[in-house]
Amino acid sequence: MTGISTTSIHAADKLSRVSDVVAPINVSTTYKYSENVNDLVKAADRNPDDSIIGEHVYSRETHPNSEQAEEILGAITDAHAVTYCSGIAAIFAAFTHCNPKTLAIGGGYHGTHGIADVFTKVKNLKQISLEDCKQDPTLLSAGDMVYVETPVNPDGEIFDLELFANIAHSRGASLVVDATFAPPPLSDPFKQGADLVIHSATKFFGGHSDLLAGVVLTKDPKVKNDLVNERVFLGSNIANLESFLLIRSLRTYELRILRQSSNATKIVEYLTANQGKYPKISKVIHGSLQKDAFISKQMPNGDSPVFCIELESEELAKAFPGKLKYFHHATSLGGVESLIEWRPLSDSHCPPNLLRFSVGVENVEDLILDLEQALSNIHQK
Ligand SMILES: Cc1ncc(COP(=O)(O)O)c(C=O)c1O
Repeated sequence: MTGISTTSIHAADKLSRVSDVVAPINVSTTYKYSENVNDLVKAADRNPDDSIIGEHVYSRETHPNSEQAEEILGAITDAHAVTYCSGIAAIFAAFTHCNPKTLAIGGGYHGTHGIADVFTKVKNLKQISLEDCKQDPTLLSAGDMVYVETPVNPDGEIFDLELFANIAHSRGASLVVDATFAPPPLSDPFKQGADLVIHSATKFFGGHSDLLAGVVLTKDPKVKNDLVNERVFLGSNIANLESFLLIRSLRTYELRILRQSSNATKIVEYLTANQGKYPKISKVIHGSLQKDAFISKQMPNGDSPVFCIELESEELAKAFPGKLKYFHHATSLGGVESLIEWRPLSDSHCPPNLLRFSVGVENVEDLILDLEQALSNIHQK
């Protein structure tokens, strides 16, 4: 397999329909049918399960830029990729595809719990916790779904995927993993037995805080085909312009993710080394500080660029982002610019004193100096 950068720059070359070095934006929503009458098959004569991949008819189904984005994402993850108009749309599509009667789910992105609640409302989906299914795997049956977000939003705790793959598979259930916080090469959940892997491509794949996208990955071409056919009726394909931006972003993806990961680990090292000097930091939370044996296997190539700290009080946590120069106070993560979020603003279940950081590609010395001045400021009082 070629490296991630080579792959992300060249995987879609074979799909180019023009001689442009940069793939053009295809804005058309509709595509001319073949001029060969033998290719024209009535809808009534077509099998709805047949593949529509590769023949562009209407952009809600497929279009050239989404096809290119899927080619690249599939190549860098060694899987088959299906793109969506947001991460949440990708998660919704995975729930729809798996259609479980029981869902085992842990903490994590509040939007995913929102989807689970919609499924509970419209089709009586039973929800149990990951702890429940660990204690009693017989709560799961064939066709059910174990959903693990790892590293988990917001604090970045890493969960043992092999453990949950074994539990799910022992009952004929699927393991679906949201790996948004540790995209390749940081982790590859298929190696631990995931059946579907989801990323909010808005985050690290997009990387510039200027596009919304999601992706579901599968090792099975038949599942890709089914997901693409289901997506037509969910109406959630990635849009033309967004997929162009995503292709643009993927060209520098590996450079960004490795730099963001190493910047985050260095900042966490700085914070933990100086916790004595800054007693108002009550906790630093990051995968690099988690010592479970499975971690080196599951996260072999670096830590997530996202980490959290807890400050002594809610008031201090609320005021802290305003003291920083380079970390914008904003939600989301994964972009080239560093962000900090007083997380209770968007997550109603997190501790009131939690600050989530998404580390960008700035020079890490500058980020550390910025944190140092802000921390010194709150310790002067
Ligand atoms: C872990 C995780 N998964 C999924 C999503 C949803 O992605 P999007 O905002 O692209 O819909 C988010 C958004 O923050 C997230 O953090």
